[in-house]
Amino acid sequence: MNHKVICWDCGMEIEDPYADTCHRCGGLLTVKMDLEPVKEMKPEDLASRPMGVWRYHPFLPIDVDKAITLLEGGTPLYPCHALEEDIGMQRLHVKYEGANPTGSFKDRGMTVGVSRAVAVGAKVVGCASTGNTSASLAAYAAKAGLRCAVLLPSGKVALGKLAQAMFFGASVISIDGNFDDALRTVRELADENYLYLLNSINPYRPEGQKSVLFEIMDQLSYEVPDRIILPVGNAANIWAVYKALTELQEVGWIDRMPMLTGVQADGSMPIVQSFQTGRDDFDPVPTPETVATAIRIGNPVSGRKALKAIYSTRGCAVSVTDEEILQAQRMLGRREGVGVEPASAASIAGLIKLRASGEVCKDEKVVCICTGNALKDPDTIIKSCPPPMQSKADASAIKRLLQA
Ligand SMILES: Cc1ncc(COP(=O)(O)O)c(C=O)c1O
Ligand SMILES: [Zn+2]
Repeated sequence: MNHKVICWDCGMEIEDPYADTCHRCGGLLTVKMDLEPVKEMKPEDLASRPMGVWRYHPFLPIDVDKAITLLEGGTPLYPCHALEEDIGMQRLHVKYEGANPTGSFKDRGMTVGVSRAVAVGAKVVGCASTGNTSASLAAYAAKAGLRCAVLLPSGKVALGKLAQAMFFGASVISIDGNFDDALRTVRELADENYLYLLNSINPYRPEGQKSVLFEIMDQLSYEVPDRIILPVGNAANIWAVYKALTELQEVGWIDRMPMLTGVQADGSMPIVQSFQTGRDDFDPVPTPETVATAIRIGNPVSGRKALKAIYSTRGCAVSVTDEEILQAQRMLGRREGVGVEPASAASIAGLIKLRASGEVCKDEKVVCICTGNALKDPDTIIKSCPPPMQSKADASAIKRLLQA
């Protein structure tokens, strides 16, 4: 065993594979990796495997030969010169997580989480989801031959994500309530060992999600960026990125950390509210609302971990309006040819706001993580773009339209 699961709050070792919190203090769980063998290695020693989650297997708590994988990760890191010009910066990259097998970063955590489910002998897996987790879990459960149940907030899941969960054969259950209600319910089922929970409260999920940071470092030849910006919903991803940074520091592969910067929507910003008052805990937002449905979460399970990640790296948390999110989404599409869903565009919107206020300097080296593909939410795009022009099938009529 190259790892153990411990309580993040009291340090107690957790043996029960179905536990999602500490039975002594109720704290959040985390994986403690034994990185002693990695201290003998260099980044180049991993390069014989293709870029992707499992290239970084010495940092992962699952044996690579037992991985349930769809060859996730290995996503592009785009230099964005047009956006640099628009925003007034010199060194901006976008890590495009929409290029994952089911179109979001969730696949990174799910390959590790579902591999763990198989390792502990689970037959049924489940999650609550704003959409992407369910799409990803459904695909990996199909690959592993497991039954899968997903609980979704009624009417608030983007069409592409819903279609994916149904298509991959999950039992899709629409809940009267929001994501937080769905999560509470699925946790009850997990507490009864009725299913193996694969929300990001499961400490194996963030383990896989660490790989986005490992890849960014690889792609930047281990030159640490000044800042990494990402959207924050349930808050596991920013924690995973932080955990990856601490592990790279532990093995001596980096000697400083980027400022981790979390972006939330104005209507759903419990972490930003805490950051503004310097608190390390947060008050849930009872009725979160935003066009970025993936981050429409008022009671982020990993919220305290996210705050730790932000404070420890001297980063910050900022909120943006829905209009700023949609504008940033269009800008990234039209200036860079990169299509992301609204939640993902929040990272660009956050950057624009922080650059305008001077918090981000023009020569900072910044990476924005854009977490999901534009095709996940076609309805929002169709509503925010001009409709197609109508024409008869006639070349001169079309020329007239194009001149108008
Ligand atoms: C596209 C997208 N971006 C960001 C997030 C937020 O990630 P986290 O919940 O880990 O903060 C999610 C979560 O569902 C998502 O689907
Ligand atoms: Zn504890």
